[in-house]
Amino acid sequence: MGHIKVTQSGPAAVLSIDRPEALNALSRALVDELDEMLEQLAASNEIKALILYGPRNFAAGADIRDMAGCTPEQASTFSFTPTFNRLGEFPVPTIAAMEGYALGGGLELALACDLRIAGESCKMGFPEITLGIMPGGGGTARAPRLVGTAKAMELIFTGSVISAPEALRIGLVNQTVPDGEVLPQAQKLAGRISAFSRTALETAKQTILEGARHPSVLSAAAVEYRNWPSLFATQDQKEGMRAFLEKRKPVFTDR
Ligand code: COA
Repeated sequence: MGHIKVTQSGPAAVLSIDRPEALNALSRALVDELDEMLEQLAASNEIKALILYGPRNFAAGADIRDMAGCTPEQASTFSFTPTFNRLGEFPVPTIAAMEGYALGGGLELALACDLRIAGESCKMGFPEITLGIMPGGGGTARAPRLVGTAKAMELIFTGSVISAPEALRIGLVNQTVPDGEVLPQAQKLAGRISAFSRTALETAKQTILEGARHPSVLSAAAVEYRNWPSLFATQDQKEGMRAFLEKRKPVFTDR
């Protein structure tokens, strides 16, 4: 235990990976810890945004020492997919704050977040093919949805490591910032998001996630059509619209 640190700055929590001696490689024990913390944070109503951060290096992948001797059955137990899915379904917005290496399972961890901010010298890729395997933490599912099938196949088939500007160009990250500014910028973004209504944020996220599971735009829009009216039962909707009409800033209370 002890490889994940939780800190709270205002309404945003920061989960920091702390295993510098292995460039924050993700061991099974580390991911178990992460899983437990995600479960606890998801159950509390205290935070409105979650930042995943790896100081110096986001994460240099799944721990190769841990999985080198796995049988297929053990590999199935080792897989981080259940935890990364839990992160993907986290009720409020999540942001990956990426420095240094974000490779393999580290990149998959970032892809399970809603938004990604990368430092200018961040390096990203899927080196699994160079180890005789393929991504196993949701990479084959999430990367094509973000950057398109052909680009995801290129990354996964070649194991190429790409720069932050290239990742921005193909849509793998939302923004790049100067090195050293990654966490402050992620906190700034989390603070901006957290000023809004929690119910509106949660409903928007769940609607987008559920809509993405629908093959047709019409059935995805039907999910929105079903969820949108529920927001008119909140005090935040009344406050937001009243504030607009009264030409003042709204004060949302998450009710
Ligand atoms: N699993 C286990 N240990 C890892 C690791 C991983 N994914 N990535 C880095 N480490 C360890 C190294 O074994 C080394 O430990 P040691 O000092 O006990 O030998 C330490 O972290 C530092 O790594 P090192 O390779 O010496 O640093 P570097 O700066 O020369 O290279 C990388 C950095 C990221 C290019 C290189 O570590 C690497 O290729 N890592 C594996 C990336 C990968 O394939 N990830 C996907 C796994 S599915």
